[in-house]
Amino acid sequence: MKWFNMIEPSPLGCNRMTTEQEMMLEDPDYTDFIRKVERSTGINLADYKESQMKRRLTTLRVKKGFNTFADFYDVMAKDKQLLHEFLDRMTINVSEFWRNPNRWEVLRDQVLPLLMEQNPGKLKIWSAACSTGEEPYTLAMILADKQLLSRAQIVATDIDDGVIHKAKEGLYVERSLKDVPVEVAERYFRAEGSFYRFSESLKKEVLFQKQNLLTDRFEAGYDLIVCRNVMIYFTEEAKHKLYLKFAASLRPGGFLFVGSTEQIFNPLQYGMESHETFFYRKVQ
Ligand SMILES: C[S@@+](CC[C@H](N)C(=O)[O-])C[C@H]1O[C@@H](n2cnc3c(N)ncnc32)[C@H](O)[C@@H]1O
Repeated sequence: MKWFNMIEPSPLGCNRMTTEQEMMLEDPDYTDFIRKVERSTGINLADYKESQMKRRLTTLRVKKGFNTFADFYDVMAKDKQLLHEFLDRMTINVSEFWRNPNRWEVLRDQVLPLLMEQNPGKLKIWSAACSTGEEPYTLAMILADKQLLSRAQIVATDIDDGVIHKAKEGLYVERSLKDVPVEVAERYFRAEGSFYRFSESLKKEVLFQKQNLLTDRFEAGYDLIVCRNVMIYFTEEAKHKLYLKFAASLRPGGFLFVGSTEQIFNPLQYGMESHETFFYRKVQ
């Protein structure tokens, strides 16, 4: 679309840009901020969809009283608390146990049995962009209920130290348990004031690590990679590179489990085929 077509007519008769349109214009202040953030943190904001990211960060900048991203960065470089708030705002950490329950049933009843059949050894499982732990702990509960914990190792990673800390703590509000089957919740959670504490023994089954999916190297030989509700924030180019990396780190026959808005267009280009909705299998 040509730029002049995007300008909305204002009620006063002259043409006026919407905030969204203003933000899409080349903005040296923001571009410079992106460069400095990458240099100091290794996080490249340009890999994330620009309009969403810029909107979130602009809201934070204005709330903190800075007129420009340059001023915002100067203070953030010295102020750890502000840096944490920035990281918090750029990484959206919402998660739940058993998010989209019927997909976890497919994992439990169809995918896991296939994986057990093809790999008689230990299953190597990775929850990528695990946020506060709901996803890897859902995996741990499912494996425990199938008495498969000793046959699997679960690694969980996220770019954000803060969420990893919370995951290790394992304390959750009731809302994040809403899709956990009642009898499962009774087995693995204990009420603590208005919170719920996740089982100490299952916690030990998950190894948490900090990792940036877009820049760090991946281990190979995974049977199952669960990566949900983070790819929607990435640009098409960043997603493409990530799918290539995931495919390379799966063993043949291994599965990639994605979020419900993250279907892969033409998975064969990555050497994967669609198995069940939101599950892709590396071609053997
Ligand atoms: C919306 S949460 C998804 C949590 C969980 N996977 C789920 O579906 O419930 C997105 C997570 O992605 C993480 N994240 C964002 N960018 C990342 C990156 N480049 N590498 C690794 N994790 C990232 C955020 O810190 C956040 O915890």
